Amino acid sequence: MRLNATGLVIGIDRDAQAIERAQRRLAPFGDRFKPVSGNYAEIKELLRTNKIQAVDGFVCDLGVSMLQISEPNRGFMFSADGPLDMRMGESGLSAAHVINDYSQEKIADIIWRYGEERQSRRIARSIVRARAHKRLQTTGELAAAVRQAVGEKYIIKTLARVFQSVRIYINDELGNLERFLPQAADLLNGGGRLAIIEYHSLESRVIKDFIYRETHPCICPKEAPRCVCGRTPRLRVIHKLVKPAESEIQANPSARSARLRVIEKLK
Ligand SMILES: C[S@@+](CC[C@H](N)C(=O)[O-])C[C@H]1O[C@@H](n2cnc3c(N)ncnc32)[C@H](O)[C@@H]1O
Repeated sequence: MRLNATGLVIGIDRDAQAIERAQRRLAPFGDRFKPVSGNYAEIKELLRTNKIQAVDGFVCDLGVSMLQISEPNRGFMFSADGPLDMRMGESGLSAAHVINDYSQEKIADIIWRYGEERQSRRIARSIVRARAHKRLQTTGELAAAVRQAVGEKYIIKTLARVFQSVRIYINDELGNLERFLPQAADLLNGGGRLAIIEYHSLESRVIKDFIYRETHPCICPKEAPRCVCGRTPRLRVIHKLVKPAESEIQANPSARSARLRVIEKLK
């Protein structure tokens, strides 16, 4: 997307550090860039507060940032010790609360649902056993409880899935995405585009369902001979799934799992 001479970019993030960094880096663009602190699940409200009723494009880079994931104090890393936090913003549940105060069944459910980890029950049992001695307060203590439950062979992948599951749950990443997408479709001008970068199958599922609903909106029963509900599509797919080129992955290894989709609002 290219900005014309009067175009304005609004940069939204719930992480105050990301907003500060964007503000510093984009300072040369003056008032053509406006940083906004907040949750994109409330996009209509955030834009309304800034007196904006409609936009020509959205660019969404989902999930967690390198800034967050590489700072042990934020609690996202399993390879370095830090407080069991994992909050992207300043409010909401911390990972420590979920790990120490939720039932074994609920923890297993989170690890299964948001980490797609097959050993979720065994891992939840090990967490509950470990916390019976002492509250788990660090990422290292959570990682140790996971290690107790599973063999060393696939430990890195398992740790990645467990940490991902807790992070997605406490930040309500999928719920926020589900709330954002229909609002984005409402806010786009005709011909405006939504470009969205996703990183895993759970995000992918939410986005694909949304695209399907918006491009096949008819709710008539399958056996109806013709459409009587009158619902018409309001979006069309421009790029179904763009993968990074090998050269991009070489230059930026964290691009490996990124997938871009682009959809357009019909005029
Ligand atoms: C993949 S990172 C973006 C990285 C950025 N493109 C860069 O190059 O530095 C995703 C960002 O989305 C933010 N984020 C995640 N969920 C959010 C939400 N519901 N509302 C606002 N920001 C959110 C995270 O705090 C994180 O900074």
